[in-house]
Amino acid sequence: MIIREELLNDYKEVEKVIEESFKTAEFTDNQEHNLVKRLRKSDEFIKELSLVAEGNNKIIGHILLTKALIKDNDKSIETLALAPLSVLPEYQKSGIGKALMNKAIELSKELGYKSIVVLGHENYYPKFGFEKASTYGVKAPFEVPDEAYMILELIPNALKGVNGVVEYSKAFFE
Ligand SMILES: CC(C)(COP(=O)(O)OP(=O)(O)OC[C@H]1O[C@@H](n2cnc3c(N)ncnc32)[C@H](O)[C@@H]1OP(=O)(O)O)[C@@H](O)C(=O)NCCC(=O)NCCS
Repeated sequence: MIIREELLNDYKEVEKVIEESFKTAEFTDNQEHNLVKRLRKSDEFIKELSLVAEGNNKIIGHILLTKALIKDNDKSIETLALAPLSVLPEYQKSGIGKALMNKAIELSKELGYKSIVVLGHENYYPKFGFEKASTYGVKAPFEVPDEAYMILELIPNALKGVNGVVEYSKAFFE
């Protein structure tokens, strides 16, 4: 299994992988593949942070991080939003999600980003160092259970003095 950047030729296959993966998800609108289509066309898209896991000559997983902002009155602090993360049902629970997460975190650091926000399962993301965003005074722009909204500092103390409401790509709300 390898993790690599998503290429134009992968788009259709990746969309199918996302749609299939979310069929097993606890919380889903089953529209995550369409969200990715919109995000790829948005200003917040970072091609280096759209990654695929490839094995048995096919794509079995995908992760996407896009640019977002933490808005604190008139200050805007750059962050990344992780969404979605997908692994085909028959390949789940075998470490592929973990490998995609670790690679995405490593590349985000290399690209100079300072934090990542995620709305997700409170048992899954803390494995990678995510903590409740509310601990840092960082809030989602929508109603969400406190424990499901999390943030990861990519550099120690990157979030010191940072608080506010996250502003996502408009593509999330179209
Ligand atoms: C969530 C998802 C991406 C995880 O990928 P995965 O490849 O199955 O996960 P991994 O095998 O890498 O698991 C990593 C760890 O998380 C645990 N884990 C996996 N799924 C979990 C879940 N739903 N809840 C809690 N822990 C979970 C594993 O046991 C493993 O723990 P360990 O490192 O202590 O052994 C995958 O199950 C998926 O695509 N689900 C459907 C779509 C979805 O819900 N996406 C996430 C939206 S927030």
